[in-house]
Amino acid sequence: MTQAPVKVAVTGAAGQIGYSLLFRIASGELLGPDTPVQLHLLEITPALKALEGVVMELDDCAFPLLSKVVIGDDATKVFDGVNLAMLVGARPRTAGMERGDLLSANGAIFTAQGKALNDVAADDVKILVTGNPANTNALIAMSNAPDIPAERFNALTRLDHNRAISQLAARLGVPVTEIKKMTIWGNHSATQYPDLFNAEVNGANAAEAVNDQGWIENDFIPTVAKRGAAIIAARGSSSAASAANATIGHMHDWVLGTPEGDWVSMSVPSDGSYGVPEGLISSFPCVVKDGKYEIVQGLEINDFSRAKIDASVAELADEKQAVTELGLI
Ligand code: NAD
Ligand code: LMR
Repeated sequence: MTQAPVKVAVTGAAGQIGYSLLFRIASGELLGPDTPVQLHLLEITPALKALEGVVMELDDCAFPLLSKVVIGDDATKVFDGVNLAMLVGARPRTAGMERGDLLSANGAIFTAQGKALNDVAADDVKILVTGNPANTNALIAMSNAPDIPAERFNALTRLDHNRAISQLAARLGVPVTEIKKMTIWGNHSATQYPDLFNAEVNGANAAEAVNDQGWIENDFIPTVAKRGAAIIAARGSSSAASAANATIGHMHDWVLGTPEGDWVSMSVPSDGSYGVPEGLISSFPCVVKDGKYEIVQGLEINDFSRAKIDASVAELADEKQAVTELGLI
């Protein structure tokens, strides 16, 4: 193996998602069986001891592709030279916290991390935000990193995308592999819009295959959009392995490309496509080639879809307004 290792940063590395994510990155699932990786793990000071335990477990796996692990609580040291950054660590909402408090607490994290990435990351860095509120956290980091091209900041809606595929496949009694061209539009929140009108099942239109607008409106969309809350209610903590799986899937495809004849949902800075105001980090159908994504153009948006997309985008605009007022962007 002669290739230089790819430096992969993960924040919140001692958390739930980290515990699933790190082992899969180190085993080669992110970048394939021929690419060595070096992990750069960021945590807050009180979690460093737990992180040391996770690193002991990484050591104990003797992963052939894992060349080195760097840990710390100083973003400007941990992000030094990183090529890929997965920003997972965030401040969860706790009892009595208002939305503004959550945006403000996370704003402090993502302004600092955006600045640190701006100063010390590799020139080719790609940044994916998983920590909630993911789209607006990504916007904050992007706004605080003026030297990094805006399109290198993405947020995670791949989990919603995978949830939508799974729900549709179950409804139609087909394997998930027969579902293509799923799209999540908008925000990673309960307003997101999973679109069946442009999706395909075995080459046929998915909405036509379902042929039940009532199920789409009253069952499919709310089930996908509120799945995170359903998992919290059932498990007592938020999705972790599926969130790690989606984080790997997004970054894998962003680096290595999307499959021919399909697309994935990625939250990316809008270029104005589909009437989404420029600059908002919103979910779109995207294809990736040679490490660069493009928003799929020319899809038909019917009136039902238009209203749903507009509602989720309005929520993103509200969040942007709130963090602007807080002086975070
Ligand atoms: P967790 O609480 O188990 O872990 C979060 C970790 O982040 C903790 O170890 C904490 O110490 C660390 N952290 C906090 N502030 C930090 C900072 N400034 N720098 C570095 N690390 C910091 O949470 P989790 O279950 O791993 O979830 C992480 C985030 O991902 C949450 O915001 C959650 O809501 C979000 N999430 C997003 C999706 C999605 O699809 N976008 C899905 C699931 C969860
Ligand atoms: C999820 O979608 O599972 C997470 O974003 C958790 C949540 O708060 O919904």
